Amino acid sequence: MIQIKNITKKFPSVTALDNISLKIKEKDFFGLLGPNGAGKSTLMNLLVGYLIPEEGEILIDNLKISGESLSIKNKIGLVPQSLALYDDLSALENLEIFGSLFDIAGKQLKESIDEKLNSVELYERRKDKVKTFSGGMKRRLNLIAGLLHDPLVLLCDEPTVGVDPQSRNAIFDFLMKLNEEGKTIVYTTHYMEEAERLCNRIAIIDMGKIIAEGTVQELIHHLPYEQTILINKNQTTLHHTEKFKSYGILIDEQDHFELKPAEGFTLSSFFKMIETEGITNQSIGIKRPSLEALFLHLTGRRLRD
Ligand SMILES: Nc1ncnc2c1ncn2[C@@H]1O[C@H](COP(=O)(O)OP(=O)(O)O)[C@@H](O)[C@H]1O
Ligand SMILES: [Mg+2]
Repeated sequence: MIQIKNITKKFPSVTALDNISLKIKEKDFFGLLGPNGAGKSTLMNLLVGYLIPEEGEILIDNLKISGESLSIKNKIGLVPQSLALYDDLSALENLEIFGSLFDIAGKQLKESIDEKLNSVELYERRKDKVKTFSGGMKRRLNLIAGLLHDPLVLLCDEPTVGVDPQSRNAIFDFLMKLNEEGKTIVYTTHYMEEAERLCNRIAIIDMGKIIAEGTVQELIHHLPYEQTILINKNQTTLHHTEKFKSYGILIDEQDHFELKPAEGFTLSSFFKMIETEGITNQSIGIKRPSLEALFLHLTGRRLRD
């Protein structure tokens, strides 16, 4: 559906994207996860043709993006990171303006607007000025503005920033439903929980480079350990620290220990030892590996630094 081939985009003071290649398949819910300044918005703007790369090419549905070609413009919809709404106009008037940008009008536009307003629960408020809307309502309106022309691919650039939890969940539900109905979605975020929850494939981007790509499972496989074992400190466990160390690296975290399992570790043999040594199961927890841990492993920094 989308092929990004060796794209480099430079600004006067920074190389925002450095030789990036990615493939996004039809019906993917593709996550682009990276900290602020990683180059996510730059890539979104290249995908809709607002920016032109110095090197490389992008194909959408096998058509090369070049400038303002209308056939491509109709295949793709962008929900920009910064709200693109007129505060003094109503929701309806805003959507009519967006519709006119995409060559849809009349009955077709009206039907599309009504359907989209309903789907994000804004229909009742359609005649109210946008300036009376909460942050979450504005975000939802911004979201459907990118969808009026029913594009094949929807690009969402950090659509939940500054949004209350209720609107955030409404946005998630809406996007997941769209994806289930067959829409390809590209979703940028610096929240790894969002990428984990929504996306079937994820690329991690940092300083203009893709540093890892795959399903959540595949990505976590890059980590030298699959999971972390949490061990409560109590009389029995404190007595067995040497035993724990034979299973990997034991880190003292003040109120508990964290065990990073060594090569060849299996949970079954570990729990057999726990049982034999008379340690209660309640003292042991398992922390699933996260994309945050992967980012830290690959870059030495945290995602939100
Ligand atoms: N229009 C621009 N002019 C100059 N520099 C820019 C412009 N847009 C983005 N940048 C720079 O490019 C880098 C990537 O920015 P951006 O794509 O917005 O990152 P992200 O969306 O991941 O936070 C940053 O260093 C940013 O300052
Ligand atoms: Mg951005």
